[in-house]
Amino acid sequence: MVPKIHSLGGYIHEYQKSVTNPEAFWAEVAEGFYWHKRCDTVLEWDFKGPSIKWFAGGKLNITENIFERNLYTIGNQPALIWEPNNPNEKTRLLTYFELYKEVNKFANTLKQLNVKKGDRVAIYMPMIPELTIAMLACARIGAVHSVVFAGFSANSLSDRIIDADAKIVLTADGGFRGDKITPLKNIVDEALETCPDVEKVIVYQRTNSKINMVEGRDIWWHKAIEGMLEECPAEEMDAEDNLFILYTSGSTGKPKGIVHTTAGYMVYTAYTFLNVFQYNAGDVYFCTADIGWVTGHSYIVYGPLLNGAQTLMFEGIPTWPDAGRFWDVVDKHKVNQFYTAPTAIRSLIALGMEHITNKDLSSLKVLGTVGEPINEEAWHWYHDHIGRNRCPIVDTWWQTETGGVMISPIPGIIPTKPSFATLPLPGIQPVIVNGDNKELTGNSVKGNLCIKFPWPGMARTIWGDHERFRKTYFSTFKNLYFTGDGAQRDEDGYYRILGRVDDVINVSGHRLGTAEIENAINSHPLVNESAVVGYPHSIKGQGIYAFVVCGELSTGGEEGIRKSIKMAVTNMIGPFARPDLIQLVPGLPKTRSGKIMRRILRKVAEGDASNLGDITTLLDEEVVDKIIDGALVPVKR
Ligand code: WTA
Repeated sequence: MVPKIHSLGGYIHEYQKSVTNPEAFWAEVAEGFYWHKRCDTVLEWDFKGPSIKWFAGGKLNITENIFERNLYTIGNQPALIWEPNNPNEKTRLLTYFELYKEVNKFANTLKQLNVKKGDRVAIYMPMIPELTIAMLACARIGAVHSVVFAGFSANSLSDRIIDADAKIVLTADGGFRGDKITPLKNIVDEALETCPDVEKVIVYQRTNSKINMVEGRDIWWHKAIEGMLEECPAEEMDAEDNLFILYTSGSTGKPKGIVHTTAGYMVYTAYTFLNVFQYNAGDVYFCTADIGWVTGHSYIVYGPLLNGAQTLMFEGIPTWPDAGRFWDVVDKHKVNQFYTAPTAIRSLIALGMEHITNKDLSSLKVLGTVGEPINEEAWHWYHDHIGRNRCPIVDTWWQTETGGVMISPIPGIIPTKPSFATLPLPGIQPVIVNGDNKELTGNSVKGNLCIKFPWPGMARTIWGDHERFRKTYFSTFKNLYFTGDGAQRDEDGYYRILGRVDDVINVSGHRLGTAEIENAINSHPLVNESAVVGYPHSIKGQGIYAFVVCGELSTGGEEGIRKSIKMAVTNMIGPFARPDLIQLVPGLPKTRSGKIMRRILRKVAEGDASNLGDITTLLDEEVVDKIIDGALVPVKR
């Protein structure tokens, strides 16, 4: 199995080993897996190209490492525990053996539909076991899954299907979320109007919504799997064959299809899951993320299942039927490790203690957070009221691109400090670099967070655009992977993540590019131009503040246009990208060369315009005063 760290001394020892001889370190971790053929070389790399190969020459299938490797010992133990949206509906429980059979059946279904190794399969599904089954079925036959979060609009879904060139889409009639139903199949239908290459759509019946099935294209899931064999030989994959694509936002408008490959991702998610959560056999682990984001990929599906863990998948939302739902799920299933986002914690703090005081929560051993910086107040609340002062909190920093957790405490072993992700995991070599490309050594420094040596879980490319991959991550700082985050290393050598230093904002743990939101706003016929920045938001972490220049106002007036701008963003991206504040402005602060000075807008949105710095290069200085006068937050001048 995967080596587990048991003590602080053990951590220090493993970390040292991983830095002095990374190849030997990772080769040893990889030993615990099942390979058809072992690798020829552990690591070949160059950050210039960049070209990164882990375990090159190795042959394997990731699903055999979940199933065949473990079935003899844990075949009859729960793999997936599914908690439905409605607490009155029955929980579903799949043992490893049952999940294995379902995966094989669906793998055979895909095969029969002519899906082959390397083909992309788009998955737009609610949080039901079939989503996990679909992903693993793809991996079983070597198809590349591209899961699209079921909160994205038809337009975003269509972009992703086209970019990945998927010929098949897996979906459901609808998805339950609290007291609402998301009409997934209708959204797919709309998306496919612009995707002529999609040949088949498989539809799982979940909500019994009335939908339209397109003759010759759409197939019901339950019909499609009828009569399929429960055995399907695993496709032999190269270590560096693609496992999945997952789209994420960047500084420019177009989302990036982050590509992860087979062996490195497997080794890294398995190793980090076991150590970051200190999972013990028999524990029940619950990650509240949606599988549509990387956290769900790595820490609901692959990481836990590769360790033979019991992973809980929750269909619903934290506030339905009431704000105690997470804690009811924890008590009902005796959850031991609980992993969520700071934004969820902050929203539950706001909803009051009455949803917590009557809960048991004594099963909990480890609490985790991910996705955005956690403020000290939320950290303490989580620690005191959920962990009842007994459970260490792992503040895990990582990214879609890193595949797995990079900087995090090891619970019970590395002493925590509120709002600090603390220390790098073995194999991770973070550095802090200033604007002049100079590495800041020693403690008590602040700057751009970079990584100077490859790790197995890192992304290998952006689908269809390797040059963009190079430019985005490997060109800003010489010979380093640039994370896009700012960080501080304190006097103890602990890392604290300070947030993005690029044009990416983090809203309720959802990562969004400001350019992407601007494109959506600009699609509105009355909008001339816009600029979007983040601003501090007590629950979401960051809120979306849009400064918009309109040609004329329609009959609905200012309120009407704000509403229709929000609608445009919902249609183009999804409801989670809707601006919180929309200020109609006479113009944007631009330099003489026409560049928007976002720095000024950020300061206004943050409520402090007392020190705007040099604005003499502005084309029109007066516009700044007008923007401050009309600001939607109180602004200090
Ligand atoms: C932010 C999510 C502070 C960060 C796994 C990163 C965090 C971006 C933390 C990646 C944390 C993630 N503390 N910030 N513990 N974890 N972030 O790709 O800005 O959705 O670059 O991956 O989230 O978001 P992504």
